[in-house]
Amino acid sequence: MLPSNLLSPAANLFLLPSTSCSPCNHVDELKFINAYDLHASGIWISRNQSRRNRRRTTMRVEMEVVAPQAGNRLYLGMDFGTSGARFALIDKEGAVCAEGKRDYPLFKNDETIDWARSWKTTLFSLLEDVPNHYRHLVASISIDGTSATTIIVDSNTGQPLSKPLLYNETCPDALPLVKSIAPVNHTVCSASSTLCKLVSWWNSADSNKEYATLLHQADWLLWFLHGKLGVSDYNNALKVGYDPEIESYPPWLLAQPYSMLLPHVKAPGTSIGYLKEDIRSQFGFPNDCIACTGTTDSIAAFLAARATMPGQAVTSLGSTLAIKLLSTNRIDDARFGVYSHRLDNMWLVGGASNTGGAVLRQIFTDKQLEELSKQINPMKSSPLDYYPLTSIGERFPEADPQMAPRLHPRPENDVEYLHGILESIARIEGKGYRLLKDLGATQVEEVLTAGGGSKNEKWTKIRERVLGLPVSRASQTEAAYGAALLALKGARLFMQ
Ligand SMILES: *[C@@H]1O[C@H](CO)[C@@H](O)[C@H](O)[C@H]1NC(C)=O
Ligand SMILES: *[C@@H]1O[C@H](CO)[C@@H](O)[C@H](O)[C@H]1NC(C)=O
Ligand SMILES: *[C@@H]1O[C@H](CO)[C@@H](O)[C@H](O)[C@H]1NC(C)=O
Repeated sequence: MLPSNLLSPAANLFLLPSTSCSPCNHVDELKFINAYDLHASGIWISRNQSRRNRRRTTMRVEMEVVAPQAGNRLYLGMDFGTSGARFALIDKEGAVCAEGKRDYPLFKNDETIDWARSWKTTLFSLLEDVPNHYRHLVASISIDGTSATTIIVDSNTGQPLSKPLLYNETCPDALPLVKSIAPVNHTVCSASSTLCKLVSWWNSADSNKEYATLLHQADWLLWFLHGKLGVSDYNNALKVGYDPEIESYPPWLLAQPYSMLLPHVKAPGTSIGYLKEDIRSQFGFPNDCIACTGTTDSIAAFLAARATMPGQAVTSLGSTLAIKLLSTNRIDDARFGVYSHRLDNMWLVGGASNTGGAVLRQIFTDKQLEELSKQINPMKSSPLDYYPLTSIGERFPEADPQMAPRLHPRPENDVEYLHGILESIARIEGKGYRLLKDLGATQVEEVLTAGGGSKNEKWTKIRERVLGLPVSRASQTEAAYGAALLALKGARLFMQ
């Protein structure tokens, strides 16, 4: 539990007014855009191809947005994901007034990709993409980035001291040392953790190590806007070892010589300061526009779904299955890869299974999936019991690195086969939520769905029956939208 002083109602700033005009009158178009993008990123969707292709060219420019009401301020969120970046500009009700996306331009530095330059260029491109006539209304900006993407910079100039270490890179050389200082099974005890990246850099850097600052991707990009070096948020900082419960780095970490590189940590969606003068004048943002701390990309995507109460959850049905549940209690269990992020006065607990849409795509084409799904009777339970995996090994909700995929016996009828697979994945989802409860989290009461699989209505019905819970599709799933909600939160706090 959190200290009681954190439990005041005002502390829950993710609780936005439940929008009657939620998020705007163009929800279908927004869903459609999500469907297209998920398809492009290779995640399975069940959707009418011709319709998508026909509408794809015009949608973005004409339909997705609402004009802000006169006098309304706007809030800008930017998401720096694995393959590209997006922005979303929203009003105080959460309606989207503009959005856009950019792929990362690739700059080569010798043989390696210069990611730092790529992100910085994309940041400024996205700011250019924000419609000119809205910029003077922007009250705040926030940014999310990929988790554990680490950049060590000169603490005076902000210039990178080495190439950034990406979310998917590992530093196995640092793992034994990290394990020797951190508590058993701590989040930092993974070769991809930010702390392993820091220790690896510390052990290999030769000079001026004391004039360095560790930043996460989102922190560094925000720095270009506000100019204060060394500020982060407690979601990004979790994997470097920050303890959001005591709101401090733990003593074992502070005792290390490299602890002076650690950034100052605030709650996500907290004002860091006004935009720098040169940024304001270059882009036409107003004098009172603030930059706010961000979060990680997957938390921003969770925030986008606008689950706000303990017991509300988001299941992400992409190539794999991930569940995230708002809980009043913090739970961590290394066996299942379960850990908790803090969100104001609640905890966001999560687990990720290796089952998911990737298995479906190995067996069926998109067209088959669409046709076969139509013929499923979701009210009827399937007698088939599978454990769909693309390769050996499972972590959550069953911790078994040797688990083999189970997709047999295969019935002659493909409708029955697909029904059996979808229902089996639903059972794994249900088991996931039960496990979180058994580990001490709040009981799930409602499930929102993101990812390609959320578009399959038959699957949704099957999941409703198997989970025994209301299941619906999240109307917003873009991380940039979640970052915009953080900007809105930060602006509200700042005005108080
Ligand atoms: C796809 O959508 C179009 C128009 O909405 C419709 O005419 C067509 O029958 C649909 N195709 C399939 C396979 O559902
Ligand atoms: C990590 O992801 C980047 C793109 O986000 C990719 O270019 C790179 O190859 C990946 N590296 C590894 C080790 O998977
Ligand atoms: C650490 O994790 C392992 C499995 O990953 C588990 O077996 C062990 O009980 C955990 N130890 C503690 C102290 O939590």
